[in-house]
Amino acid sequence: MKKLKVFAPGTIANLGPAFDILGVALDNIGDTIEVKENNEGVLKIKEIKGKNKRIPFETNKNAVTLGFLEVKKILNIDFGVDIVLEKGLPISGGLGGSSASAVAGVYAANLLAGNKLKKEELLPACVNVEGILSGYHADNVAPSLLGGFILINSYNPLSVVKLGIIKDLYFAIAHPDFELETRKLRAVLPKHIELKQHVFNSSKAASIIAAIMKKDVKLLGKSIQDNIVEPVRSKFIPEFYDVKKAALDAGAYGSSISGSGPSVFAVTDDKKKAESIGKAMTEVFSKKNIESEFYVSKVSMEGVKKLFNKLFLR
Ligand code: HSE
Repeated sequence: MKKLKVFAPGTIANLGPAFDILGVALDNIGDTIEVKENNEGVLKIKEIKGKNKRIPFETNKNAVTLGFLEVKKILNIDFGVDIVLEKGLPISGGLGGSSASAVAGVYAANLLAGNKLKKEELLPACVNVEGILSGYHADNVAPSLLGGFILINSYNPLSVVKLGIIKDLYFAIAHPDFELETRKLRAVLPKHIELKQHVFNSSKAASIIAAIMKKDVKLLGKSIQDNIVEPVRSKFIPEFYDVKKAALDAGAYGSSISGSGPSVFAVTDDKKKAESIGKAMTEVFSKKNIESEFYVSKVSMEGVKKLFNKLFLR
């Protein structure tokens, strides 16, 4: 009976102006799954640990098992496995929670099937699960799968560019303890925008790519400005502009909404500074009686990975 354990990182999508086309993998927060073949030939979520408020166990609703089902379609293999999901990411928190679970499921299924597909070849399966759960977009699943910053260069056909990492970059991320559903937060976005909004956002998004290529954290921070999505979605995050101001006052180079929110991220080039920025952001939420926590993370180079744990394998 095969067993394995897989970790898929959380992600920050959009990075402000690059809506649906850019995302980055975080290195220390994510979802873990333990998968064990069973005798019944049934695909089953046995247990959900961690941040597990209301995650469905049903095979056709859970992101992990949906990932297995996508791989089943591609490789024409049936999976009989018991899965324990350790949810490290908040649900509907803006940190790619369902995406990480989907990526973990797809990756583990492929490993169990004998590693027939390369990581890149698993991307369509991951995006299909995202499409079912929260709307078709690749800027969370692609970095969770492949690591680093990922640019979506085309949706049809699906194609991505790996942009690598910036070693000195630290994210401070404040997560207020409430949920915003990505599907709903996509529905509130404008169908049409002004040409000058397009010019502003594309210049900032292009500058972010330049900053990543030049490994320039200050330019990255300065380019995190969004005139299209942030003004609309910020209305759903109480105190958003005060939280962002607190981050900038504490020395962050830039700040915006992580994915569709409610998490708010900020960038800096120093771990200690990232910690004070995170603290400053959560203090604003606390003053308004909104519970929150903060994370500090660098960029994950690798994306989803198999964990080798002696105790687990025994
Ligand atoms: N690009 C997606 C959105 C990311 O903003 O809707 C969601 O995490």
